[in-house]
Amino acid sequence: MKNKSSVYIRTFGCQMNERDSEFVTGILLEKGFCLADSPDKADVVIYNSCSVRKHAEDRMISNMGQLKKIKKDNPDIIMGIMGCTAEHRGKGLFNSLPHLDFVCGTGNIGTIPDIIKKIIKKREKELHVGKLSGHLPEANPRHRNDKRSAYVSISRGCNNYCTYCIVPYVRGNERSRRPDDIIKEVEDLLVRGYVNITLLGQNVNSYGKDLEGNINFVKLLRAMDALNGKKNIKFMTSHPKDASIELFETMGELKGISKHLHLPAQSGSDKILLNMNRRYDSKYYLSKIKHFRKIVPDHMLTTDVIVGFPGETEKDFEATKSLLKQVRFNAAYIFKYSPRPPAPSSKMEDDVPREVKEKRHRELLVLQKSISKNKRILYD
Ligand code: SAH
Ligand code: SF4
Ligand code: F3S
Repeated sequence: MKNKSSVYIRTFGCQMNERDSEFVTGILLEKGFCLADSPDKADVVIYNSCSVRKHAEDRMISNMGQLKKIKKDNPDIIMGIMGCTAEHRGKGLFNSLPHLDFVCGTGNIGTIPDIIKKIIKKREKELHVGKLSGHLPEANPRHRNDKRSAYVSISRGCNNYCTYCIVPYVRGNERSRRPDDIIKEVEDLLVRGYVNITLLGQNVNSYGKDLEGNINFVKLLRAMDALNGKKNIKFMTSHPKDASIELFETMGELKGISKHLHLPAQSGSDKILLNMNRRYDSKYYLSKIKHFRKIVPDHMLTTDVIVGFPGETEKDFEATKSLLKQVRFNAAYIFKYSPRPPAPSSKMEDDVPREVKEKRHRELLVLQKSISKNKRILYD
C-alpha cells in the first residue's frame, strides 16, 4: 500500500460510533494512511452509520449517494459504509448505492485495513457483516480525535431488547471488555494528559455480568479512581433498572468520578413503559431519582424521551410531561418514535399520526427549555 494514501471518515450516530471511527482512523494511520479533510481529496472514504431512527439512516444514504460524482471523476477512490446501517442493511446497500466498494458491519471494523487492501488488489465489492459476538481486536491505536477528552468503550452490544430499539440487532448481545484492558487504556490516557474520560456502553451498569470473576461496574469505577492523575470520569448510558444505590454512593464518594447521571426515562406512562419492555414503572424511576438526588447532592441529571410510541394517548403523553416537570432534568433529549424492524414494536401499529408526534415533540422541547433555563434558580 502506498504510504500516502489518505482516508476521510464521517461519523453519524452516537458516541460508540465516534469511538469506532476513531479506532478505525487509528488503525489506518498505523498502516501508513494520512487524513484527508474532505471526500474529494481522499483515496478512501468511509461513512460510519447509525440506524437508531429511520431518518438517521436515510440521511446517511442520501449523503453517500451524493458522493457518486466523486467516484465518477475518480474511479480509483474506495468508498465504504461501516457500522450499524452496514450491519442492518448489509448487501442491500450495494443496490441503493452502486458506487460503494465495501460494507462493513459493527463487529468487523478491525479488518478494514485488510478490506481496503483486498479491494485495491481485486477491485471487487467486499461485504463483511454478521460478526455480532466476540470483541474488536485489543489493538489500541494511539490516535485520538481530541487532546483532553477521550471515549473508552467498556462493553459492546446490549441485552435489554427494548421493543423499539434496533441496537441489539446491529451490535449483538452485551460483551464486556476485560477490566485489565480497560484500566490499561485509561491509565495510558491519564499519562498522556487526558482528563475527561467517558466510559461507553449501552448499559454500563450491567458491565461484567458476562465475565468470570468478581467484577462489576462499581468495582471498575473504583479501580479507575485509584489511578494516578487528574481525572473526571464520566459514563453512559445507565439503564434505570440497573442503576443501583451502590453506584450512586460511589459517584457521591469518589472525587475522580463525574456527578453526571444520564438516566433515560423514555416515557412517564406505565402502560407505554411496559410496552417498551423497559422493565420499570414511573414510580420506580422517580424513586431512583430521589435516591440519587439525596446521595449525590451536587449533580447533573439528563434523560432521553420518545414521543409517539404506538398506542401513546394524550393521557400517556401528559404522564411524560408530568415526569419532566417533576424531575426537572438539566437536559432532555427528545425523539420522535420511528419503527425499526426487526425491533418488535415495528409490528405494532404506528398509530400516532406524524403531526401529533411533531406537536408532542415541540411541546416537550419548549417545556424542557423552560425547565433548563430556570433550573438553577428554581432549584436553589
Ligand atoms: N442504550 C442507550 C441508548 C440507546 S439509543 C439507552 O438505553 O438509553 C439512544 C436513544 O435513542 C434512546 O435512549 C431512545 O430514546 C432513542 N431511540 C431508540 N430507538 C428509537 C426509535 N425506534 N425511535 C425513536 N427513538 C429511539
Ligand atoms: Fe436499545 Fe434499550 Fe439496549 Fe438502550 S437499553 S440500547 S434503548 S435495547
Ligand atoms: Fe449508536 Fe446509532 Fe448504532 S445510536 S449504537 S450508532 S444505531
